[in-house]
Amino acid sequence: MKFDGKQMPKIVTAIPGPESERRVDDLARSECPAITARRARRSRETGVSQDPIVWRRAKGANVEDVDGNVFVDLTGAFAVAGLGHGHPKIVEAAQRQSEQLIHAMGDVYPGEAKIELIQRLAKVTPEPLTHSILGLSGASAVEAALKTAAVHTGKPGAIAFWGGYHGLSYGALSATAYRENFRRPFLSQLNGAVHHIPFPDTFRPPFGMSRDVSPDEVSHAVLSHLRQMLTGPATAGEGIGAVIIEPIQGRGGEIVPPPGFLAGLREICDDFELVLIFDEIYTGFGRTGTMFACEYEEVTPDILCVGKAMGGGFPLSAAIGREEVMASWGLSSGEAVHTSTFLGNPLGCAMGCAVIDTLVEEDWPARVARRGEQIRKRLEVLARRFPEKIGRVRGRGLMLGLELINDRKSRDPNTQLSMALMDHCRRRGYLVLPSGRHGQVLALSPPFMVTDEQWEGFFTALEEGIEGAG
Ligand SMILES: Cc1ncc(COP(=O)(O)O)c(C=O)c1O
Repeated sequence: MKFDGKQMPKIVTAIPGPESERRVDDLARSECPAITARRARRSRETGVSQDPIVWRRAKGANVEDVDGNVFVDLTGAFAVAGLGHGHPKIVEAAQRQSEQLIHAMGDVYPGEAKIELIQRLAKVTPEPLTHSILGLSGASAVEAALKTAAVHTGKPGAIAFWGGYHGLSYGALSATAYRENFRRPFLSQLNGAVHHIPFPDTFRPPFGMSRDVSPDEVSHAVLSHLRQMLTGPATAGEGIGAVIIEPIQGRGGEIVPPPGFLAGLREICDDFELVLIFDEIYTGFGRTGTMFACEYEEVTPDILCVGKAMGGGFPLSAAIGREEVMASWGLSSGEAVHTSTFLGNPLGCAMGCAVIDTLVEEDWPARVARRGEQIRKRLEVLARRFPEKIGRVRGRGLMLGLELINDRKSRDPNTQLSMALMDHCRRRGYLVLPSGRHGQVLALSPPFMVTDEQWEGFFTALEEGIEGAG
């Protein structure tokens, strides 16, 4: 069989589901204890079996596991494979670079691929964002941004949003407020000067507002709350130097803020001289139908954090800022005060250059916008058909989610349905993941080139799953 990324799923071994004969305790004793023990624990908690799928190879939208099962990956492997798995131009760049130079001396004697990548980033990011600090994970880009803001303003504090996900290393975790249990064991070690405020979610409005409020009212309420915090004594507003936000919340559940909210945030940051950080680690590089999500609202941050899709599968990230803000680090005294051994790794940078070139040359952001509209319409048809189960279609471009509810009146999150659908789709050969603070959103962040036939197959499986859920 040709393995070119356009295959329909092919399941050759039984993919265990809740009715599986394989018991979770057997799984915990099997060959991959670290993975399976975690899955087994989760299975016990949710009642849904989650056998690990051990990947052997992946191409385009397809993944093949060690048993020969072929899946269609609608997760983009955590939104990394925007251009698909193993895109030929990225593979070629990696091969060429690995023959030439695999490791250099990042900040001291960089490889030329690092310089090329930084130049390309300056070209594709919104106008005044020109100066990059590279990193190896989303979290490290967020930490670079937060440190830059502290150096620039001399203030240790920041405002972040409930439901936001910025990574799990200590600095990033201070801003992350996706789930309490991620933070609880480390609370005493986190930056206590980071304060969280509600994200303007119009489906579950904050501050006990009525469900019928307009998006403008939600936006206004959150922005007013922030202004009050910054002027009032309660949070020592004078210690706050930055605001960090995902322009569309990703793991929080594909939540798009009301139109004008980001512009309002920009205005507040200008008024209070705060550094505005957009975390576009999830939304960046074409995912939402523009190169970066902030372009949609024409709001430019002071620092933009990117990662995930940036390296085409290689761990790579960047915090890209305005010259004036990044210059706050001052001239090097010979020893970098913020660096790491593998920073600017030539292999990753060459792959990153190939990602940017391919996105631009093949016009992917505009193609994603068109495709995203088609898929959204299909999801909205489903939402109308199952109004008691699907509360809202969320997201933009090819970062979409189905908000699953227990019933229309309460809008209570239906985590069980989302887990059951994930399981059902997996057994039909489609990989999807849950998102949202309760795991109640069925999230789609597929490779951009999923075919019509693959999408049709997924919708058939999804419909069946929802119908079967009773
Ligand atoms: C918006 C956002 N920021 C930061 C991160 C953290 O990235 P990493 O897991 O590469 O550290 C993620 C990861 O999902 C993310 O979605």
